[in-house]
Amino acid sequence: MTRTVYLNGDYVPETEAKVSIFDRGFVMGDGVYEVTSVLDGRLLDFPGHVTRLTRSLAELGMDNPLSDEEWLAAHRKLLELNDVTEGMVYLQVTRGNPGDRDFAYPPQGTPQTVVIFTQSKPGLADNPQAKTGIRVISIPDLRWHRRDIKTVQLLYPSMAKMEAKRQGVDDAWFTEDGLVTEGTSNNTYIVKGGRIITRPLSNDILHGITRASLLRYAAEAQMQIEERPFTIAEAQEADEAFSTSASAFVMPVVEVDGATLGDGRPGPVATRLREIYLEESRKTAI
Ligand code: PDD
Repeated sequence: MTRTVYLNGDYVPETEAKVSIFDRGFVMGDGVYEVTSVLDGRLLDFPGHVTRLTRSLAELGMDNPLSDEEWLAAHRKLLELNDVTEGMVYLQVTRGNPGDRDFAYPPQGTPQTVVIFTQSKPGLADNPQAKTGIRVISIPDLRWHRRDIKTVQLLYPSMAKMEAKRQGVDDAWFTEDGLVTEGTSNNTYIVKGGRIITRPLSNDILHGITRASLLRYAAEAQMQIEERPFTIAEAQEADEAFSTSASAFVMPVVEVDGATLGDGRPGPVATRLREIYLEESRKTAI
């Protein structure tokens, strides 16, 4: 099916959506993005995603081209036009087309490029991997040091994902100075003695929207949370591990660098947190 996508204010068939070869997003990776998940035709954690978008843009000296209400209206319209009830909505804003390649930013006022498209994923909430858990390897974190900005510069995470696949596992967790930063496209956690341990927010990791909601729900459920970095060795000796993201919600991890965690099946804390997250975020979806 040909999707209808959003490009600079217009709703057009995906085959007709054209962006300049000089676009800063294309030649410089000069753009930011967001991914919002959709269940029951509604957007999960949407206010968190637009707030982070505004922050990412501001950190790069870019304006937010749309108001929160306009972003929401465009997301909703695309869901309706494409009949999406379960899946994701991707948005991207770049610094636009300066008409040539140049390291210097184009003059203020150069129109930004704004793209939004839907990805229909029936069965997203019932992902079979959540029942078996996933296996991860560790890889040195060679990304830049502004990982708090959600830029479209995703080559290194893609390389890490491919290395994980090459080694026959599902994903990679990045490490720096002996400590886990985050996953290729998710935040990471271990569980030890009932405590949920996760790296605190800084420029070292993306400030996950799923992470923020999940930690709030976990605190409300009287679970113990410790925000501190952990090592791969700790992860290998943990009772459980998991990751979070808008596309996978809460994903149990059952193997880290070849070491099986617990009995090799998703643990009770990760399983419960996935249930809580899906239940609560469905309630607040818009
Ligand atoms: N990735 N860390 C990184 C490096 C990420 O790319 C992501 C999300 C997260 C989790 O953030 P959130 O909970 O807000 O989705 C953490 C998205 C899903 C992606 O690139 O597709």
